[in-house]
Amino acid sequence: MRRKLAAGNWKMNGTATSLAELEKLSSLYPNPDIDILICPPATLLHRAAQAVQANSVIVGGQDCHALVAGAHTGDLSAEMLKDAGAEYVILGHSERRQDHGESDELVRAKAIAAKDAGLIAIVCVGESIEQREAAETLDVIGEQISGSIPDQPIGENLVVAYEPIWAIGTGKIPTLDQICEVHDFMRTKLADRFGADSASSIRLLYGGSVKPQNASEIFSVSNVDGALVGGASLKAEDFSGIIQALENA
Ligand code: PGA
Repeated sequence: MRRKLAAGNWKMNGTATSLAELEKLSSLYPNPDIDILICPPATLLHRAAQAVQANSVIVGGQDCHALVAGAHTGDLSAEMLKDAGAEYVILGHSERRQDHGESDELVRAKAIAAKDAGLIAIVCVGESIEQREAAETLDVIGEQISGSIPDQPIGENLVVAYEPIWAIGTGKIPTLDQICEVHDFMRTKLADRFGADSASSIRLLYGGSVKPQNASEIFSVSNVDGALVGGASLKAEDFSGIIQALENA
């Protein structure tokens, strides 16, 4: 059985006052049936880890460097995130692929670093609107999965998030059939590579404009094990609606 995961990505949002949202979320779910993750900006990570109760909300990073340490001004290693209290790290988000030119190869190196540091990696994949309109979606996702996920099966230490770029922050979501097609494809692709057993332990998240209003229908799709949520994870009340939908799915 795959444990469901509601993951919030605060992106470049949040200062010390935002920790109150995290405390609220943590007190609403002292012992949840699903994994609830918030990835705040790195400046808040340590305080966020301290602000949540044990066994409730867990925290993670939004990126890490592929190396353990060294002369890389401004970067953070997976080990540093772990030291600050992170249990997860988001890797290869489309905003990092776009803003920082991150390649599949780099994301793969980061995923290996995350595993070595004892973090669970959430590797993001997703097509642009042009690629979807050109009917290239599955080719793009297949290539990103092959390129961004390391060779050694990471099983429970790996989560894959399908995030169509055109759905992020736009209020648009794919049809349920489109989500289903991609998620089934990802499961098969992972099974071909790692074997059915390993592949069946990897959680697959959908991300892109998930809101309390559309969460239930998204979670009804097979092979959707949770969500990666941006905007609607910033307020405990909104995120709570998504958590409840996932608990009830
Ligand atoms: P959104 O972002 O929920 O604001 O669309 C999702 C994401 O980028 O992970």
